[in-house]
Order: sequence, then structure tokens, then C-alpha cells
Amino acid sequence: MVQFTLPKNSKIRVGKTWPKPDGKNIRKFQIYRWDPDTGENPRLDTYFLDMDKCGPMVLDALIKIKNEIDPTLTFRRSCREGICGSCAMNIGGINTLACIYGLDEVKGDVKIYPLPHMPVVKDLIPDLTHFYAQHASIMPWLETKTNRPEKEWRQSIEDRKKLDGLYECVMCASCSTSCPSYWWNGDKYLGPAALLHAYRWIIDSRDEATAERLDQLEDPFKLYRCHTIMNCTKTCPKGLNPAKSIAEIKKMMVSRTV
Ligand code: SF4
Ligand code: FES
Repeated sequence: MVQFTLPKNSKIRVGKTWPKPDGKNIRKFQIYRWDPDTGENPRLDTYFLDMDKCGPMVLDALIKIKNEIDPTLTFRRSCREGICGSCAMNIGGINTLACIYGLDEVKGDVKIYPLPHMPVVKDLIPDLTHFYAQHASIMPWLETKTNRPEKEWRQSIEDRKKLDGLYECVMCASCSTSCPSYWWNGDKYLGPAALLHAYRWIIDSRDEATAERLDQLEDPFKLYRCHTIMNCTKTCPKGLNPAKSIAEIKKMMVSRTV
């Protein structure tokens, strides 16, 4: 079991305020900063950007700040189109992907924090080691027992359709880190992302380990710590419904024939 470690003193300080540029369309950004090397409390730094010289997405603003104002600002990003899941953070109180979240969707000053209730590696980067280990624990692969077919594991169009709304998950962790049950029991409760993936493999018509998969989830914490709070579905930046996947697994548990 992974032990969560929090900074010794988690009080957030007021940090540095960077100079305000000239311009008519200036926007204020307050960004969480924490550097493990200094041993100091986290702080909120303030930056100003001229929106007439900035791209439309929150990630555009972060890149502009890093490139032109403060190269020490640290965050993850890769694809900049909602595919890699690496730029997930809390923007204006919402867990989402910075690259597909428009600055026009944020009211007032733009406040940016790392995903909540996760250990922080640095600044906006959460430590997802435990989150990925939970994903690995649900066996996110096709598990088969019959002989491998000569060409491919076939699937009907209808059965393939059952995976829609599941395969699109980019493992950004926005859902799990928005869930109070996951905040409090994240060491034992698998959380919405891992459970959505568990369901994706349970209902795959080609998979032959349904009973083992359900057995693994038959646990007071792994599955049943979901209390249908629905934050996961509300926040998913890909428009997926992890709460429904969890409900479907619970239904399978009570009517299981395998
Ligand atoms: S279900 Fe949505 S919010 Fe959760 S990890 Fe997948 S893409 Fe991210
Ligand atoms: S940079 Fe890949 S999802 Fe945002």
C-alpha cells in the first residue's frame, strides 16, 4: 500500500507578484508553486498577461508565462489537444485539461492549482505513481484462455460499440482527484478512472477473465467506496461517465452468473 506524503506544513504563502505589462486586455493569473528543494511552504505567484498576445487556452497562457516571464514554472504537457492526458490540473476550481480549457471559460482571475489531494512533485505536477499502479491492478489488457486465433480476436460491430464512452479515457486523473471518497480512501478505493477501465475490460466480448475481474473488485473498498457523488462525471474533460461504469459493475455484482 502506498503511503501518501504531504509537505510538512501545507499552508500556502503569498508568493511573488511579477510586473504588469502595458496593454488594454490584461489578465491576472495566480498559480500554485511548490519546490521540494527549498523545503518552504507552497506559495501562490501572481502573473499578468496581455490577452491580445496570448493563445485562447489555459495551456497557451502557462507556456507563455514559462517562455517569457518565469522559466521555473513547472507543469506537464505534451499533445496540446486533449489526447495525452498529461496537462490535467485544477483551473478555477475545476479539474480539467489545460490544453482544451478555454481562458474564456474561466471567470475573473485565473487560479491554477495541481490536481487536488495528490502528493505534489513540483508546482503543478502531481505524483501519479499510485494512480497508475491502481490502473495496472485492474489488468488493463485482453486476458484470454482459448488458443490464439491465426489472425485476430474478432468482435461484432454491436460488441465493439459497447466500448464507446470507455476507450476514449486518457487517464488524466481529473475524475479520481475530484472524488471525496478517493481523497479519503484513495489508498484502498480504486477511484473512478481505474474502475472505468475495469468495466471497459469486463464488458469486452473478447475477454475471458470476467469472473476473475469481478472477484478482484468484490471488496469493501476497491469498488464499494463509490457513493455516487458524481463529481467524476461532472468534471471529466472528455465527457465520459465513470459513475455509470461503476454503477454497471455494481449491477453485475448482484446478478453475476460467472
Ligand atoms: S474518465 Fe475522464 S476524467 Fe477520468 S481519467 Fe478518463 S478522461 Fe480523465
Ligand atoms: S497536453 Fe495532452 S491532454 Fe493536454
